[in-house]
Amino acid sequence: MEKPDKELFDKVVKISQARGFVFNASSIYGGLRSSYDYGPLGTILKQNISKYWWESFNDVEVNIYPVDTAIIQSSDVWKSSGHLDEFTDPMVDHKPTGERFRADQVPDDLKKEDLTEPRQFNLMFETNIGPVQDENSAVYLRPETAQGIFVNFENVLRTMRAKIPFGIANIGKSFRNEITPGQFIFRTREFEQMEIEFFCKESDEDKWMDYWINKRMDWYKSLGIKETQLQLREHADSELAHYAKKTVDIEYLYPWGWGELEGIANRGNYDLSSHQKNSGKDLTYFDSLNDEKYLPSVIEPAGGLTRTLFALLLSVYDEEKLENDEKRTVFRFTFELAPIQIGILPLSKKDDLIEVCSEINKTLKNDYRTEVDITQSIGKRYRRQDEIGTPYCITVDFESLEDNCVTIRDRDTMKQERISIDKLSEYFEKL
Ligand code: GAP
Repeated sequence: MEKPDKELFDKVVKISQARGFVFNASSIYGGLRSSYDYGPLGTILKQNISKYWWESFNDVEVNIYPVDTAIIQSSDVWKSSGHLDEFTDPMVDHKPTGERFRADQVPDDLKKEDLTEPRQFNLMFETNIGPVQDENSAVYLRPETAQGIFVNFENVLRTMRAKIPFGIANIGKSFRNEITPGQFIFRTREFEQMEIEFFCKESDEDKWMDYWINKRMDWYKSLGIKETQLQLREHADSELAHYAKKTVDIEYLYPWGWGELEGIANRGNYDLSSHQKNSGKDLTYFDSLNDEKYLPSVIEPAGGLTRTLFALLLSVYDEEKLENDEKRTVFRFTFELAPIQIGILPLSKKDDLIEVCSEINKTLKNDYRTEVDITQSIGKRYRRQDEIGTPYCITVDFESLEDNCVTIRDRDTMKQERISIDKLSEYFEKL
């Protein structure tokens, strides 16, 4: 059985910051706690994961429609969804220091008598629209992308002539004023979600719940996250969110233990029924074949894009002892997800070698994410490419000028093979 690796956290955080995956936000001003910016490699990785998520719907036999909904919606949405009343965490204060904790996350070493009674704290960020601030101008940054889908259910149904079962998928930023954010990008106040609301008949709920649990679990494995670090856990009745009939989490084995990566919930018709009641709009589905009108049930696979990126970095991080007693560090990204797929390295900074590299780059860069890397010694450049997880490096040396051949180095096996420059496209196509 795999065990949590406490040291891994520090290593991954350090390398992520050193190599341009994730930076602390506002770092030139000392940083803003628990707020992060994604650097060039982190941004590409995030885009790749997001693209992979959208592409995973290609083999779903029914339609999954994309939407991209507003962060700021009418406050009526959050009244109806229950977030204004229910989206709270119990908070306690530590009297001697004034520090605040979520009631279930108080450090063990604090004395009970030093803590205040728990009180409810709403996690939504409130702001105002327009120049006048009054009770009617209050709006909220969305705490989940899901409601943007529910309030567009009828729009999608009508414009796409959608037939049940079908899904609507939404990806984007969500905001929660978490009392105790932390563990790097695991829990932040601003994060990205990727959510599907899948609409089906009530009698098919269980079938589709099982379908999505399996499909989403397979997706995490296909990213390259180790199977032994993934598990399913069903919520006890006492932990169910206010809208859920049943929830199964896909959990990842983080350096501190098992924790949520994605939640798959049966929301029944909680949301559509509430929005129908409060908006006065008919949100029922008419099944013309069976002449039935009903509010569909909803299965919701709700994942975190930024949290997935973190789990992926942790899972593919590897250290390897080399023959000469040196150590190398590798992110073993799959070829599809690696931020840089092919590094192109001239053996030295000589102009004619760099020119060959540029030519090779011109041929490959339309189909692959490439980088010409000329800084530092070749050994250091290989180490850097390993650290950022580049699966292949092409090295151009002086012989290349004579024989028109280059060396391809495989990140994982470190095997090198000599190949003609004309055959490079064919070589990578075959992968
Ligand atoms: N619509 C249902 C919903 O939002 P959730 O379990 O609260 O469910 C879904 O959130 C996913 O969003 C989580 O599994 C996690 O991956 C991600 N997530 C939630 N809160 C987060 C936070 N503060 N920081 C980073 N990711 C978060």
